[in-house]
Amino acid sequence: MDGCRGPVSPNCRVGENPIVPAQSGAPIPRLVTERLLLREWRDADREPFAEMNADPRVMEHFPAMLSRAESDAFVDRIVARWSANGYGLWVVERAADGVFLGFTGLAAPVVDVPGMPPFVEVGWRFAVDAWGHGYATEAARAAVAWGFDVLGLDEIASWTTVANLKSRAVMERLGMTHDPSDDFEHPRVPIGHPQRPHVLYRLRRPDARPDAPSGTR
Ligand SMILES: CC(C)(COP(=O)(O)OP(=O)(O)OC[C@H]1O[C@@H](n2cnc3c(N)ncnc32)[C@H](O)[C@@H]1OP(=O)(O)O)[C@@H](O)C(=O)NCCC(=O)NCCS
Repeated sequence: MDGCRGPVSPNCRVGENPIVPAQSGAPIPRLVTERLLLREWRDADREPFAEMNADPRVMEHFPAMLSRAESDAFVDRIVARWSANGYGLWVVERAADGVFLGFTGLAAPVVDVPGMPPFVEVGWRFAVDAWGHGYATEAARAAVAWGFDVLGLDEIASWTTVANLKSRAVMERLGMTHDPSDDFEHPRVPIGHPQRPHVLYRLRRPDARPDAPSGTR
């Protein structure tokens, strides 16, 4: 691998040695795409983030909307996870006018799904006004490229409720593949709840070693 390259290269500050993940406590790297800036979190993001998390259209496939306090606590967790893991969720801002659009990024493997390999997950959430422009796919492409090029991941996964067709369409536009044998019941959703069955999509780094186990780097 040659480290930061392609759409992430102009502002990719982590990855002098691409095998070594971002350092804990290092500044959140910025990624620039054709129309977007993926950046660190600021206090001014808390208000539009809370509005997004209180919108029933955005939260249709989640168990509940978030209160302002819950949304702020989520920001705090996101920032803490960047610091602890060296990767995480970026704010996605429209480059042309600086508007907060949502978030995209990488999340640490879950540990409570029996049998699931330790996948780093790519995820997204955008305000309704930002839907229908290709922003989620554009941002996620940059996040995935960073995960492969800078973190050295061999495979990245994404999952959602069966009915979340818009999110599944982002996964498909990214070139992720879906094998129904990977699907699972989310252990944190009550048995019998319609949001409990989840689909899992995977994307392998094009030059990953064929023998590299799923979800590792
Ligand atoms: C999931 C979510 C991010 C998808 O948003 P989205 O706008 O459908 O996805 P994209 O940003 O990739 O945009 C794709 C759409 O923009 C259109 N588009 C318009 N201009 C475009 C352009 N210049 N380039 C690319 N696509 C463009 C595409 O045709 C496509 O439209 P379609 O859905 O009618 O086919 C959004 O629905 C969301 O935030 N949902 C709530 C949170 C959530 O469920 N997150 C996932 C939890 S796992």
